[in-house]
Amino acid sequence: MLSTFVIVFLSPNRIHNGFIERMRAIVPVAGVGSRLRPHTYTVPKVLINVAGKPIIGHIMDRLIEHGVDEATIVIGYLGEKIREYILQNYRIKVDFVEQEERLGLGHAIFLSRHTISRDPILIILGDTIFDADLKKMMSSNHSVLGVHKVEDARRFGVAETTDGFIARLVEKPENPKSNLAVVGLYYIKQPQLLIDCLKELIKTNVRTKGEFQLTDALQMMIDRGDKMKTFDIQGWYDCGKPETLLETNRILLANIAPPSAPKGVLLQTPVFVSPEAVVKNSVIGPNATIAAGAEVENAIIRNSIISEGARVSDALLEDSIVGSNAIVKGSYKRINIGDSSELEFY
Ligand code: G1P
Repeated sequence: MLSTFVIVFLSPNRIHNGFIERMRAIVPVAGVGSRLRPHTYTVPKVLINVAGKPIIGHIMDRLIEHGVDEATIVIGYLGEKIREYILQNYRIKVDFVEQEERLGLGHAIFLSRHTISRDPILIILGDTIFDADLKKMMSSNHSVLGVHKVEDARRFGVAETTDGFIARLVEKPENPKSNLAVVGLYYIKQPQLLIDCLKELIKTNVRTKGEFQLTDALQMMIDRGDKMKTFDIQGWYDCGKPETLLETNRILLANIAPPSAPKGVLLQTPVFVSPEAVVKNSVIGPNATIAAGAEVENAIIRNSIISEGARVSDALLEDSIVGSNAIVKGSYKRINIGDSSELEFY
């Protein structure tokens, strides 16, 4: 007798008012990452390896872990490489949207509008690796913006609060009235209202610092009566500049199980050495990442990132970032060299 088995895959979506609610994240990653040149000449910022995987890999893993089951990735500069990485490594439903003109974050979100339903969305900026209880953030009855207290809020969107709700949002104010910086993690309860506000900004050509800002659209939502709260994000790791990238590498490595050392190699934890890297006669770590395909010989490497396929020999490197396929020989310096470069010091 033939039996029929029905296999039901339960995805981690929520039931709300009797309807299944899916959780979609919008991840804008179209920027050129100019502060991370020369690396970003050939590799988009979010594909730079930190603690063993690209920045976007850390973001996607955290999103999926917190129940996100669909994503829209807004690509632009070197976007094909990002698309390839995501499609090779992730199985959730992903839509790619192209932002050809760099008209701002608000514009990037507006371009994703056909992928957004009435269900709440999470927006996460591509240079933000976070450690936060997203489930708690997303259980709110209101929209919620991730914030972090900073000393100098002038280079951020800034939230001013009254009675527990956000009263005003200002993009990069010269004289901030609060020290709550918006960190790039936004839970939007009424995404259709956000899209209406973005549409209005673009139609009336309202720009701040030359761009259509998400911050301005969120302020317009508040003006139209939407209630928004803040959520303190303690673990917020910036990857925007070489120093912060190395700092983030250091913090994330602390959570990684130490690999076993190949013969003739001394590993000082925290450290990541890809099983697909070849390391001989070297001291690696602390705080070093050796990516897949890298070859390291007769070297001492600490507080550094050696990217995919790079070759380092007879070198002592500290506080350094070596791009993919770059070659470093005989160097006893602090360096920051891009992909496919070749350096020899004798
Ligand atoms: C963007 C947002 C800003 C936010 C920041 C967080 O600015 O516009 O409100 O505070 O991200 O990193 P950007 O850094 O892209 O200029």
